[in-house]
Amino acid sequence: MSTFQHLHLETDSSNILWLKLDVQGESTNILTPEVLDELSRAGIAIRSHKPAGLVICSGKSTGFIAGADVKRFTEVKSTEQALAFIEKGQAVCQQFADLPCPTLAMIDGFCLGGGLELALALDYRIASDNPGTRLGLPEVKLGIHPGFGGTVRSIAKLGVLNAMDIMLSGRLLRPQAALKMGLLDYCVAERQLHSTAVQTLLKPPAKTKPPFYLSALNQLAPARHLLGAKLRKQVAEHARPEHYPAPYALIDLWEKHGGNPAAMYKAEAVSVAKLVLGDTAQNLVRVFFLQNRLKALGDKKLFQPQHVHVVGGGTMGGEIAAWCAMQGLRVSVQDQNADALARVVARASEAFQHRYKKDARAIQAALDRLIPDPHGEGIGKADVIIEAIFENLQAKRQLFAALESKAKPDAILASNTSSIPLEDIAGALREPQRLVGLHFFNPVFKMPLVEVVYDPHAKDDAVLARALAFTRHIDKLPLPVHSSPGFLVNRILMPYLLEGIRLQQQGIPAAIIDEAARDFGMPMGPLKLADTVGLDICQHVGDILARKLGLDVPLTLNHMTRAGKLGKKSGEGFYRYRNGKMMKTEAVEWQGNRTMLQTKLITPLVNEAKACLAQGIVDDADLLDAGVIFGTGFAPFRGGPLHYAQS
Ligand code: NAI
Repeated sequence: MSTFQHLHLETDSSNILWLKLDVQGESTNILTPEVLDELSRAGIAIRSHKPAGLVICSGKSTGFIAGADVKRFTEVKSTEQALAFIEKGQAVCQQFADLPCPTLAMIDGFCLGGGLELALALDYRIASDNPGTRLGLPEVKLGIHPGFGGTVRSIAKLGVLNAMDIMLSGRLLRPQAALKMGLLDYCVAERQLHSTAVQTLLKPPAKTKPPFYLSALNQLAPARHLLGAKLRKQVAEHARPEHYPAPYALIDLWEKHGGNPAAMYKAEAVSVAKLVLGDTAQNLVRVFFLQNRLKALGDKKLFQPQHVHVVGGGTMGGEIAAWCAMQGLRVSVQDQNADALARVVARASEAFQHRYKKDARAIQAALDRLIPDPHGEGIGKADVIIEAIFENLQAKRQLFAALESKAKPDAILASNTSSIPLEDIAGALREPQRLVGLHFFNPVFKMPLVEVVYDPHAKDDAVLARALAFTRHIDKLPLPVHSSPGFLVNRILMPYLLEGIRLQQQGIPAAIIDEAARDFGMPMGPLKLADTVGLDICQHVGDILARKLGLDVPLTLNHMTRAGKLGKKSGEGFYRYRNGKMMKTEAVEWQGNRTMLQTKLITPLVNEAKACLAQGIVDDADLLDAGVIFGTGFAPFRGGPLHYAQS
């Protein structure tokens, strides 16, 4: 057989051919045009070789195939060019689907996007039950949908309901869930993968199919229209067609061509080629690379933390502790208040149950890792110490002076302060350069970003590198920022929030203002956000930033907080709440210009972003955009505030 650069072919004693993919120059297997060409050549060779069966597996420890090469998406210049790549992928999958021998994908680790589409073109799929094994079609997260025949094959294999569920959400499945859904034929221990593959190919079992009524559903145009409308409605709850066209394009595709696979393959390719050149896909791919860039800032190998000590078990400290325990670390939590410690355990227990579902062992193991530590016995054992006590400079200084004398000499000393300049706290330490900020966002479980705050005038690169590494060990995205008022995210968010309040003060209804922000693509309008954060906290942070940056805090805020209207927690703010839930507001009329309203809301945010860049709060514009997207949820399909301003 001919030689290949990215794959190896080997026949075993049972005449089973093993195609091992090992893409050169990449840490994970991805489908580039060159790799697709080799697979195509291999397909021809395999056909003439007439093996008893074919296994496709990976030569990488990182998984099976992570998908198509996302880098190419940004290089595509025309629909024709995009179409050529997609059709190549489709042709390769079809070539393997047409092989006369039984075929099987042997999966250990990630099997995503184009990788799963290739696996779906084979007769069988088996996977290891390793904790890192994941299957999915996450293309919508990049603004497209499957394009290598995956829309047709996933529906044929799983039925339209399951297939649409995974394609529209882009969620990744653990192997047991994939087995239950019919995506896998077997899920076995890693050491049994090989023998299971051989047995399956030598004695091929009947292939699994979705129930008859689901296949029938596919064939009937009126049924497709009905279900299509329902799916569109579901998608609309999370994404608008003008912001995120891909899920809608996928539903249209199935509705039109679901009964005719040949037509659907063709239309699938055309649809993806069109989507990939759109602004949404280009910006979401940009966000994907920004995320990878943040991930790469922390080098896990530098530092292996085992034990985290958290001081202050309130809103933030409690969640940080539970999150760290969930990532496998031992965590001691210290609080001067015994009730606070009891609440930490109760809330963590709830979070673990939610996370581990019915796995009682995993829940207990996480609880065992989380230790209430009223007297701070964990301080001397910890590799990382995170302070999350009240926002009070003197209290924090006192605490750090005590922590420094008891901590291991190389332990990270970190504060979660959201508004106190790092250097003011660090002044209390004998070695001030030991202190970093690890600024988590609320809610910790949902917000991926952690600002890693440092004082540029007293920077210790080794300390910073360890802090960055730590954030990766707990699966957060680090953003290095200079210590300055509001750091990056709150500083940029606050002018947007205050502008919302100012416009409300001028008589524009709160619901209209928030709607305009959501129309732009913000996850939450500024007034709902203010209510959620708490108007007293907005006032406090607003005052600090007003002093340092010359922001103007609207008087309403002061009036409202003095009247006890603190937002969600007090039952009333810009909206009313009952039992923590927002009450329905009456529909309001407003005749003003909504586009202008949007511009008014977003401009202060964009201007503050520009000021932060000019002042060097972060190193470059991409890091700034990444911070604002992952720290505030700023419309990802717009690619970040600076990118948006430029476009
Ligand atoms: P919190 O008031 O909910 O909790 C503070 C806890 O610290 C209380 O349980 C208190 O008993 C304990 N505490 C106070 N002094 C202590 C001491 N000397 N030793 C041991 N325990 C002590 O406060 P929250 O909201 O959790 O904030 C904590 C820190 O996190 C603050 O610096 C805040 O600025 C920051 N932060 C808050 C965010 C939020 O949304 N709440 C977001 C990001 C940062």
